[in-house]
Amino acid sequence: MRRTLRAALEESIETVGRVDAQVIVAHLLGVNRAYLATHPMRVLTEIEDAKIDTFVAQRALGAPVAYLVQEREFRGRGFALSAEVLIPRPETETLVDACLARLAREAAFLDLGTGSGVIAVTIACERPDAALTATDVSVHALDVARSNAVAWRCEERIELVGGSWYAPLAGRRYDMIASNPPYIPARDPHLAQGDLRFEPAGALTDGSADGLDSIRAIVRGAPAHLRPGGWLLFEHGYDQSAAARALLEAADFRDIVSIDDLAGIARVAGGKMQVTHRRQGMSAQDRIREQVTLHPVVLYMKGSPQQPMCGFSATATQLLRMSGAGEIFTVDVLQDPEIREGIKQYANWPTIPQLYVNGEFVGGCDIMREMYQSGELQKLIANAAKSETKS
Ligand SMILES: C[S@@+](CC[C@H](N)C(=O)[O-])C[C@H]1O[C@@H](n2cnc3c(N)ncnc32)[C@H](O)[C@@H]1O
Repeated sequence: MRRTLRAALEESIETVGRVDAQVIVAHLLGVNRAYLATHPMRVLTEIEDAKIDTFVAQRALGAPVAYLVQEREFRGRGFALSAEVLIPRPETETLVDACLARLAREAAFLDLGTGSGVIAVTIACERPDAALTATDVSVHALDVARSNAVAWRCEERIELVGGSWYAPLAGRRYDMIASNPPYIPARDPHLAQGDLRFEPAGALTDGSADGLDSIRAIVRGAPAHLRPGGWLLFEHGYDQSAAARALLEAADFRDIVSIDDLAGIARVAGGKMQVTHRRQGMSAQDRIREQVTLHPVVLYMKGSPQQPMCGFSATATQLLRMSGAGEIFTVDVLQDPEIREGIKQYANWPTIPQLYVNGEFVGGCDIMREMYQSGELQKLIANAAKSETKS
């Protein structure tokens, strides 16, 4: 005999508890939870009845409800999920709150490791003036993020990019970078417990002993991708707050913050990039020397590669791209009058843009063009990339 809704619900509650049973039954019948209370005598079809039993059995074996119903709510919005993305957590809402509270108008926002897209899509929905980029190393995650962006009608404002952390973002800068990276230490016993057993390992841990390798990479790379005064904010583990702050301090961030989640545990850390990323007491010449020796390919230009403020700077960035340059460290001299003057003395060259490779002055736009035409620029860039890989 076919069961009524009430009978199926009561049996399910006995096996998996009230909340999970209600979510599963409501999902399978395509109704909301109020309907379950108001239609107890509805007789289920054979297919509905069988599906409820199958889902409840899978849940009893540990499968997360969010994967069974392929959906999870985040800040009041439903997000589609697949087993290839992390199930969004309430702690991440704390990160989104922290971002929204600091986001400037018409900001360029970067979400690193977007997973289902909850961070980028929520920011896009709540801040229609923001322009967003969201990345992930997993192509499956990018597919899920894309379908959520379409569902929330913001796909045209979120650029989805595949690749590891900043690797696909050479020369690009943002007003805010946010990330909820994998941060569970490789040997943490929680990885073998509860929902975590079913989630993608690469979303939970980066394989490092202390779980901090991804955060290290994100903090280390941030200064080259933040505009002056831009914010980096990221989620971390319950016991990683001190380490997260130390990494931000070592990278010269200021206004460093730690933010508690709803349980009162510090879960989000962040800091603001120094306006000129200038160390106290350092002369312009020393700062330039540090920049050109720290980064294999450095371009002093007017504006940014996305928004060059003169034709020569636009041509120089284009020539570098055509020569196969990946990671270019660009310095916008219009943001820093001391560097704008200092760079003219540094290599005794009066104009901007100026290109430096492996610490050596190469030339301005005309020299770059000549070198590109003879193939020399391409060789120089390829050698710089090789020496970077070795170091
Ligand atoms: C903890 S999950 C966060 C997902 C989503 N942002 C959220 O908060 O629910 C971490 C995400 O980072 C991605 N990821 C891991 N390593 C990465 C890397 N090297 N570069 C870019 N993304 C990476 C994973 O694929 C995963 O989607």
